[in-house]
Amino acid sequence: MEAVSKVYGRAVAALREVSVSLPAGAFTAVMGPSGSGKSTFLHCAAGLDAPTSGSVRLGGVELSGMDETALTKLRRDRVGFVFQAFNLVPALTVEQNVTLPLRMAGRRAPKGRVAEVLGRVGLAERAKHRPAELSGGQQQRVALARALVTEPDVVFGDEPTGALDTVTAREVLALLRAAVDDLGRTVVMVTHDPVAAAHADTVLFLADGRIVDALDAPDASAVAARLTSLGAA
Ligand SMILES: Nc1ncnc2c1ncn2[C@@H]1O[C@H](COP(=O)(O)OP(=O)(O)OP(=O)(O)O)[C@@H](O)[C@H]1O
Ligand SMILES: [Mg+2]
Repeated sequence: MEAVSKVYGRAVAALREVSVSLPAGAFTAVMGPSGSGKSTFLHCAAGLDAPTSGSVRLGGVELSGMDETALTKLRRDRVGFVFQAFNLVPALTVEQNVTLPLRMAGRRAPKGRVAEVLGRVGLAERAKHRPAELSGGQQQRVALARALVTEPDVVFGDEPTGALDTVTAREVLALLRAAVDDLGRTVVMVTHDPVAAAHADTVLFLADGRIVDALDAPDASAVAARLTSLGAA
């Protein structure tokens, strides 16, 4: 992202000239107070929302100037999403939820791909179940399988562990970490939780629409200390 600003309406500057590179094959966490612009940052980085000014490149492709059709295609092909509220389709089975992004792109799942991603998230036995028959953690693992099935350049998560208990959250974080370490994926995750952020390679701190700090190889107590000092500032 280069000098990316996002202004809502006339007055709300959600991002102010943010310039940052999120390295491929790395896990980046984004933290900051409520309203600091984390979701806006994620949406602009992912091509879900257009910046007011500045430039976003994803996997070498310039997003600014793309029309909605091109952006939709880019998101389908290059981006996976995991949200706090899972966002599975209740009427579809686990397997159908996972293959949905491929089918929407008019593609068929390559042989073995669905079994492979479901195995990866530990849900090989649940392919025929519906989301309502699964726990929250299992539903989020389905959402992660769905995000991975297209082999995207980047997996974006907006508080993907926000609705999960500590143990279940840790399982999902380990899977995100494995997506980076074993599959070479790029992960960008917004979180409020220093323990979650400690799974990342780098933590970016946002305050009032700006990146004000970064921490490499973070541990949870260092992250918590930075957050506290941000709050104080
Ligand atoms: N669609 C919108 N229209 C108007 N203002 C918006 C819109 N979306 C976000 N904002 C404003 O932009 C600012 C940043 O919002 P954003 O959702 O990015 O914050 P956040 O860091 O994700 O917060 P939280 O931790 O509460 O999720 C806030 O002041 C918010 O009110
Ligand atoms: Mg948010």
